[in-house]
Amino acid sequence: MEIDLERLHSVGIVTPNAPRSLIGDEFRIIKRPLLRNVQGRGAAEVQNANLIMVTSSLPGEGKSFSSINLAISMAMELDHTVLLIDADVSRPSVLNILGLPPRKGLMDVLTSNDMQLGDVLLKTNIEKLSLLPAGTPHPRATELLASDAMNGLLAELAERYSDRIIVFDSPPLLVTTESRVLATHMGQIVMVVESNKTTQAAVKQALSTIESCPVKLMLLNKSQHTSAGSYGYGYGYGYGYGYGHAPKENQ
Ligand SMILES: Nc1ncnc2c1ncn2[C@@H]1O[C@H](COP(=O)(O)OP(=O)(O)OP(=O)(O)O)[C@@H](O)[C@H]1O
Ligand SMILES: [Mg+2]
Repeated sequence: MEIDLERLHSVGIVTPNAPRSLIGDEFRIIKRPLLRNVQGRGAAEVQNANLIMVTSSLPGEGKSFSSINLAISMAMELDHTVLLIDADVSRPSVLNILGLPPRKGLMDVLTSNDMQLGDVLLKTNIEKLSLLPAGTPHPRATELLASDAMNGLLAELAERYSDRIIVFDSPPLLVTTESRVLATHMGQIVMVVESNKTTQAAVKQALSTIESCPVKLMLLNKSQHTSAGSYGYGYGYGYGYGYGHAPKENQ
């Protein structure tokens, strides 16, 4: 699939070969501790560190935007192949944001006996990035995401693609329960928090639903003040990063 990189750049997404940008710098900071865990260079060994879910408490906080940026930013590293999965199956948006038409994907693999993962993975013109779309809308999408078939698929992903980083765009934690189920399989979770909007109570409640995941990173999105500090940008959206359990040196 040919992603229109110029268009992507114009909607604020990191792209290869683009000039240095604030968003590029911010995602370089955001991905670093995640990659460290994938490479086994973190403070402690993290199981399935290559399975990374991007979630949030509530809708619209920036999960899809962040997961796409994260996946592309990681794919731009020399030694990482990345698979971006649209696991927000009842409200998919990854292909749409990338400017691509709907395609078969996750739902189709989960509902069909003769369709394999390999049949629906999409290669892109971003060399190390492939996509697994959400696929054909299904009335029981939510249940399918928490099904045994999905568990099997996650096990297959963890085993067959253990050398890849797999980024999951997912539904919000406080609206439905499927993200919480997905979370139990993940090595790392990036929790997007919309600045000046999502309350601390909501964030705390959401965090309590993903306690089982060993690594949880918080990403403050749509902040007017970037906490990246040294860049000194006073306008636009910025990202800040908060850490659940990661040691300070990871920053
Ligand atoms: N850092 C950012 N800078 C600029 N725009 C952003 C940023 N993050 C999110 N947005 C915009 O905010 C809106 C919601 O973002 P997005 O679709 O990524 O959220 P979401 O959490 O995936 O939502 P949903 O719960 O509906 O899936 C979009 O219009 C997106 O372009
Ligand atoms: Mg989304």
